[in-house]
Order: sequence, then structure tokens, then C-alpha cells
Amino acid sequence: MIGPGGREHAIVRSLLSDPNVSEVHAAPGNAGIAAIVPTHDVNASDPAAVSALALKLGSDLVIVGPEAPLAAGVADAVRAAGIPVFGPSKEAAQLEASKAFAKTVMAEAQVPTAMARVAVNVQEAADALDAFGAPYVVKDDGLAAGKGVVVTNDREEALAHAESCFKVGGTVVIEEFLDGPEVSLFVLADGRTVVPLAPAQDFKRIFDGDEGPNTGGMGAYSPLEWAPANLVQEVIDRVAQPTIDAMAHRGTPFIGVLYCGLALTSRGTRVIEFNARFGDPETQAVLARLKTPLGGVLMAAAKGQLDEIEDLRWSPETAVAVVLASENYPSTPRTGDKIRGLKKANRLDGVHVLHAGTGADADGNTVSAGGRVLAVVGMGVDLEDARERAYSGIEQISLEGGQYRTDIAAKAARGEINVADTASQP
Ligand code: AMP
Ligand code: GLY
Repeated sequence: MIGPGGREHAIVRSLLSDPNVSEVHAAPGNAGIAAIVPTHDVNASDPAAVSALALKLGSDLVIVGPEAPLAAGVADAVRAAGIPVFGPSKEAAQLEASKAFAKTVMAEAQVPTAMARVAVNVQEAADALDAFGAPYVVKDDGLAAGKGVVVTNDREEALAHAESCFKVGGTVVIEEFLDGPEVSLFVLADGRTVVPLAPAQDFKRIFDGDEGPNTGGMGAYSPLEWAPANLVQEVIDRVAQPTIDAMAHRGTPFIGVLYCGLALTSRGTRVIEFNARFGDPETQAVLARLKTPLGGVLMAAAKGQLDEIEDLRWSPETAVAVVLASENYPSTPRTGDKIRGLKKANRLDGVHVLHAGTGADADGNTVSAGGRVLAVVGMGVDLEDARERAYSGIEQISLEGGQYRTDIAAKAARGEINVADTASQP
């Protein structure tokens, strides 16, 4: 398992419960991962180092968690060493690494998405903003860990974000605004065949009520009771399969997870973005419910054998994941603070803690080491129950300056999410 975060901890936890998986190693991991499997101090984005480690360990399968190693060609290097990899090649990972590339493939595959224009200077950006009107959506074209997007009614702010991207030599994509609830759907792909996981919803903004700047994600829940019954099939038919087919047709088959970030708008389902990896923290909620052993499924994807696997089995329970972030996240998170109460939280019924940015200090205490520090997952009979468990877990944990949203899945639990009638109609 390659990567340092909460998503990787969730994947490792699932792999350990797969009876056919004999041994799991992680690089570099975090304090929570190191407590359950051997970890290796390797730069996850160094293709040669990762493939050397995989060869040394005699790995049967390498799973690449985050986007940066994929964009750096880690999957290519491991594949070239003859080891099956769950994770797309550098070229296929452009679906995430370049928003402009993603738009091109979506156009080829006739995937419904927001209208967009690429701008390379202030004049082009201003013209595009005025063409679409408010609310303005301005995206840094490169990888920005979910933080390169500004959505605002303030034209000055939109233009300032574009300028800051141009200053460092980047380009921006300016889009029409998509209304309606957002859904994250992870679709496993082996280059040809696709297998969907259960849909989830993520909470991108730092503060309650979707206020404040975008983050990598402050919480998630799954499944989505309010989603139209045909949503997953519609996304497979109109988004995932056409995209996977287009990538194969281009000669850059996509092997791994195509993360479809969707908006269920009043004019139908639209793709907001693709990612080339599992979402974080949606994975923490989604995998908590997966009953089918994960290792076999990821191996089938890596080997081009997804057509041979049976339908995935899911727990009937609902999962809610609440992220604890450090002070000042998402700008300049403060790190190195002691985290207390982890054991108490883990002991609660239906609660488990997944580490993200954690490490150990010189005395072996678990300390914060990143912006998003951990996620507490609550499993319950319904959203209300799962929320209660997740929050009772996070209340056991103390971290100086720590911040978390108190409204993860609250709107859905109150039955207040509405999908417009026209959304998701065939
Ligand atoms: P992205 O990095 O493209 O996922 O964007 C991050 C977040 O910005 C998304 O999850 C949405 O909440 C918001 N966003 C991105 N594009 C749009 C859009 N065209 N319309 C409305 N909101 C958007
Ligand atoms: N949760 C959003 C992401 O993983 O990009």
C-alpha cells in the first residue's frame, strides 16, 4: 500500500480483514498504519524507490493511494517491474492531473459535464468569467489536493485566483456553475470492465454550513438514501464506461479507481471532476461497509479480470466519517501536537479511528503531522445512529487547536437533500 493518509489506513484495514491476503506492507504509512502493518520509509512519489521496495518484498500487488505518485509514474515503474498494480499509468492519471485533459476526454466520450473554457491570461479569464456569469468557478489546471478551486460570487476574488495561478506559470479552467447535491462515486476499472462501489457524499468546505475555503474533505457518509435509484447505473452508462472506453481507445487504458465527482443538477447529472484514485475521506466511509474481501477485487482490477468477480456485497449499515483537522488547516496547518483519547474512541461500539496526518514524537506519543489528522468512522443502523457514534468518538479525542465540522451528514439525516425532478432521468 503506497501513501500516507486516511484513505490508505482504510484500505489497509480492509485488506487485513480479507482472508486471502497473507501480508500487507505500507510505505510510508502513518502512525495508525504502522500500528497494524510493517511500514517502510520510502518516498511514495519516487517510481524507482517504490518499485525497488515492491521487488524486495516480493509483492503480489501494489496499490497506489494518492494522486501525486500516480502523476509521477509510480504505477508505470511497478508495472514495468512485472508486478500487478492497482492504479493508473502516468498518462491515464492525467484524467485527474490535468483538468483540461479530463475535459477533452469527456468531450470525446460525450460525458455530461460543466461547460468550460481554458484561460492562460487575465484577459481570457475575465472574458470567460463574464461569459458564464456568477457564481464563478475557477480551477487551477494542475493537481492542488482539492484546494485549487474557487467558487464565488465575487468577480474580483475569482479573477485574483486566476491571476495567482498564472503567476506561478499555470493555466486555469473556468466553468459554468453546477447546482444541486454532489455525489462521489468510485468505479473500479481494469482497463475495460467497470465495477461501481456504493455512492458517498463528501464535505469540502472547512466550516459548518459549507462555509469557508475548500479542503481535501472534512467528512463523508455512505450510502445515500436520497439518491435516485438509477443513479449508479446512469453514471456507469453515461460516464464511467464511456470514459474507460475512450481511454482504452486512446491507447492509455485506465486501471484503478475512476472517482466520479458528480453534481445532480436541475438539468441532469453532470461530472464536476474526475480523480484517478479513491477519495479521502469518502473511502473511510465506503470501505467500512464493503463485505466482499477487498484484496481480491483490487487484484482482479490490476490483472484485467473484473468481469470475473461477483456483485459486491455491502453491509446494510450506514457509515459516517468525521475528519479532525489541525489548527489553521487548510492554509498552514499546525503540527506536532499530542493526540489523546484514541483508545477510548476506538473502544466505543460501532466506532473506529483511521489516522491521516499522524506520526510519533521522540517519546513515542502519537502527534499531529498534517492538515487532516484523522477520521472517526461511526457505523449505525441509519444516518442518525451513525452520526451519533462518529461524534461520540471524536468527542473522546483531544488535539490542541483541532477542528471538525459538526454537521457531517446532518442535512441528509434530516431528510433535507432534494434532487431536482429532471436530475438523473434517462
Ligand atoms: P474539484 O477540485 O473540481 O472537485 O472542485 C472542488 C469543489 O468545488 C467541488 O467539490 C465542488 O464543491 C466545487 N465545484 C467545482 N466545480 C464546480 C462547478 N462547476 N459548479 C459548482 N461547484 C463546483
Ligand atoms: N474527498 C475529495 C477527494 O478525495 O478529492
